[in-house]
Amino acid sequence: MNQSRGNWSSNLGFILAATGSAIGLGNLWKFPFITWENDGGAFVLIYLICIAAVGLPIMMGELLIGRKTQKSPVGALREAIGPIWGWVGAWGVIAGFVILSYYAIVAGWSLLYFTKAVGWSLQGFPDVLDAGSAFGELAGNGSKQLILTGLFLGMTVGAVYFGVHNGIERVARISLPILFVILLLLLLSALSMSGSRDALTFIFRPNFSELDSGSVLMALGQAFFSLSLGMGAMITYGSYVARNRSIVNAAGVIVILDTLIALSAAIIMFSVIFTVPGMTEQVEGSAVGMLFIALPELFYDVVPFGRFLGPLFYVLVALAALTSTISLLEVVVSYVIDEVKISRPRATIVSGGLTFVLSILAALSLGAVPALSNFEFFAGKPGVFNTLDHFAANWMLPTGGLLVTLGVGWFMSRQSTESELIDENTPSWFDYRLWRFCIRYIAPVAVTAIVISVILGHDFS
Ligand code: PFF
Repeated sequence: MNQSRGNWSSNLGFILAATGSAIGLGNLWKFPFITWENDGGAFVLIYLICIAAVGLPIMMGELLIGRKTQKSPVGALREAIGPIWGWVGAWGVIAGFVILSYYAIVAGWSLLYFTKAVGWSLQGFPDVLDAGSAFGELAGNGSKQLILTGLFLGMTVGAVYFGVHNGIERVARISLPILFVILLLLLLSALSMSGSRDALTFIFRPNFSELDSGSVLMALGQAFFSLSLGMGAMITYGSYVARNRSIVNAAGVIVILDTLIALSAAIIMFSVIFTVPGMTEQVEGSAVGMLFIALPELFYDVVPFGRFLGPLFYVLVALAALTSTISLLEVVVSYVIDEVKISRPRATIVSGGLTFVLSILAALSLGAVPALSNFEFFAGKPGVFNTLDHFAANWMLPTGGLLVTLGVGWFMSRQSTESELIDENTPSWFDYRLWRFCIRYIAPVAVTAIVISVILGHDFS
């Protein structure tokens, strides 16, 4: 049975794949933006606390359920906790499907911007280009959107099709080292810019007078999204870990790398923005604006070695997104393989195809088709794209995460979680009692706070 499900070839392969899932548009796109919106320092500190006190324990909880049962989320939760918990797994599978459908759209833009940036590097950035309206044109161009999204989903399907070892792990082994090198080059270039000092102060000097309870909850929501928690991705990846390998250390490494990458992305973007007078006002108010409107031009204006780094930046975005879309699709595919009992290639193509159908609706809702763009399900969230993002980030991940936390903390016996986490490979920094305290008390209270605030109308998307 294990043989046919596939396994990671080594601990490193697993860590790279799971880190690849965690590092994505959430780090490069969402984190800098919400750090900006929440005035830096104090927000970053709260985020780090959320990562350590809530994210890390839940990451271990999800991984242990997967490794213990060697099953995809529905079967895993059913076996580890109880029959009814299969529904929590199903909720996660639906979340994977929904998130993938809109995430692949933004990921697709990075492919186009890579080709554009290569052109700009070779021929110079056009003086007359208005990056904002160029982006608006792309958003409203239905056929371009569909081609780019289809291409990105096609790449994702291509990797998942070949399985855990030959597909997912292989892509992660190639992508992550490239991603780290590009990020390091960008970081070095950013730190040499005059705005870097202001950027570091903005990110690392806390000013608590700027902070409100909404920011705290946003930090928590972002920690979930960034670590790929609350929807079974880590249960699925944990299920391919051999029983004799420590998940505690792996969880620590994944969380640290994910956080370092998010901080680096923020340092890079803010160094550029603070270097250019007047830029701070311009980026106000749009996450997309930073990646696809403000940055392209700045690479050619102010960034040292920008002609070289511009195209590489979009390679970074595409690779980071790809290892995340792979994990989103794998959650759905592993469910289909285990529960519908069809082969991986068929499961992958069917799941990828269905996702594309939903993606079409979302992609055309960015201006191309007025009926889809004006569709409003939640107040103030016009369009299918915004609706899906809002629903997944605000409702699905927090509720899924809350249930998983309660399940691991309160419905699994102490002995069964302890025996998963403690063995001869467990690192000395790990304290089981502290973990159990976090998973039983801190995480559920914190996540309940998110859910209640969403019910009261707060928006994390
Ligand atoms: N962690 C990814 C990011 O930060 O972009 C997003 C994500 C991937 C969320 C996979 C959930 C998931 F299962």
